[in-house]
Amino acid sequence: MRRKTFLITAGPTQEPIDPVRYLTNHSSGKMGYALAQAAKKLRHHVLLISGPTQLPPPPGIKFISVTTAAQMYQAVMKNFKKADVIIKVAAVADYRVQKVFRKKIKKKSKYLVLKLVQNLDILKELGKKKSKNQILVGFAAETHEALKYAQKKLKEKNCDYLILNNVAKKGIGFGSDKNSVVILSKKGNPISLPPMPKTKLAFRILNVLNSPRFSG
Ligand code: CTP
Repeated sequence: MRRKTFLITAGPTQEPIDPVRYLTNHSSGKMGYALAQAAKKLRHHVLLISGPTQLPPPPGIKFISVTTAAQMYQAVMKNFKKADVIIKVAAVADYRVQKVFRKKIKKKSKYLVLKLVQNLDILKELGKKKSKNQILVGFAAETHEALKYAQKKLKEKNCDYLILNNVAKKGIGFGSDKNSVVILSKKGNPISLPPMPKTKLAFRILNVLNSPRFSG
């Protein structure tokens, strides 16, 4: 396979509430880091843009560390034009606190209301901006009606492939070392990959994505 340039996003984002608190999710970054390492092993160029995780930056891979969805958006938009393949594994926070408190929120009344505002959808923006030679791969984390929502995301975000992660299944997905996915594409039938270590699954996913369109 011709050497390609991969842009991969991984991990959660953290959205600050006040100087000591933030909103985030359970993403560990393991799937995105495994994909970055697998692409590197296959001799591709890789840029990994990661939210905060417990994982060390993989050696030999260009690495940009971000915290918030807005920072991830900036880093992706600055770098995506060079990429042949963009894989958006990151679990980007859909909402941020509209006005971040400058001082720690003190415990006063029984209820506290935080006003959240939607973050930009990075994948959707990429779907609008990508050139026709670029392969755009999204992920979908679903707990119910998984296939239906994944099909919808594939179409609405103009992805070439959408990798469905059923996060309601026990022992796989968020935080786990194992995962199983269903890969949807614009063209063919969905392909299911059974539970296996994320390190192995990463190679299987890249293999499936290596359709004639991007094997050059
Ligand atoms: N995504 C993104 N920017 C966002 C939200 C999501 O780029 N602000 C991307 C993720 O990286 C992933 C895909 O969109 O590749 C799907 O993310 P997911 O959280 O499953 O879905 P959402 O589009 O956020 O929709 P919902 O939360 O309603 O399921």
